[in-house]
Amino acid sequence: MANDHDEKGHVADEDRRDILFLGTGAVGAVGIASAVWPFVDQMNPSASVLALSTMEVDIGDLEPGQEMKVSFLKAPVFIRRMTEDELASAADEDVSGMPDPDPRNPNATGSVADVQDRLVDAERGIIVLTGVCTHLGCVPLGDGAGDYKGWFCPCHGSHYDSLGRIRKGPAPENLPIPVASIDGDILKLG
Ligand code: FES
Repeated sequence: MANDHDEKGHVADEDRRDILFLGTGAVGAVGIASAVWPFVDQMNPSASVLALSTMEVDIGDLEPGQEMKVSFLKAPVFIRRMTEDELASAADEDVSGMPDPDPRNPNATGSVADVQDRLVDAERGIIVLTGVCTHLGCVPLGDGAGDYKGWFCPCHGSHYDSLGRIRKGPAPENLPIPVASIDGDILKLG
């Protein structure tokens, strides 16, 4: 994949670099609405691949309300900076009655899918999600799509909220969060 268009991000391993888009609104989402991701294979890379694979993305230009998408370990990863209003609204929500209260976050210290345990950087409102619907593996639409203003998978109507939590539809689990950490403006995946 070409790697000469990375003013919005850079990647340690150029072979894996694949910055797909950075933007707001629905631009860029058309064309992936019904793309079925090869779910089983891509979500279960070998242990050796996992151990060796990391990727760095510069998120310094990511403004509140913006979303970018990269490809990591052959799966789409959504990176979004939430607005203050979105953060405040999400903080008020009761997780206990949601379809999946588990944070699905290997970086989390807690056990509830709240703001603290769903965000990679709660202070800046940075959420990082593996962009594969937990129903049958389609790539959901983002940028505030769906009834809960997060991500929407039109294949069978799964609605995820601004923290990527499943709120309505057949998907059984929240969008998973990859192993990730942030140092300054650099997001490290893996
Ligand atoms: S694959 Fe997402 S709702 Fe069916």
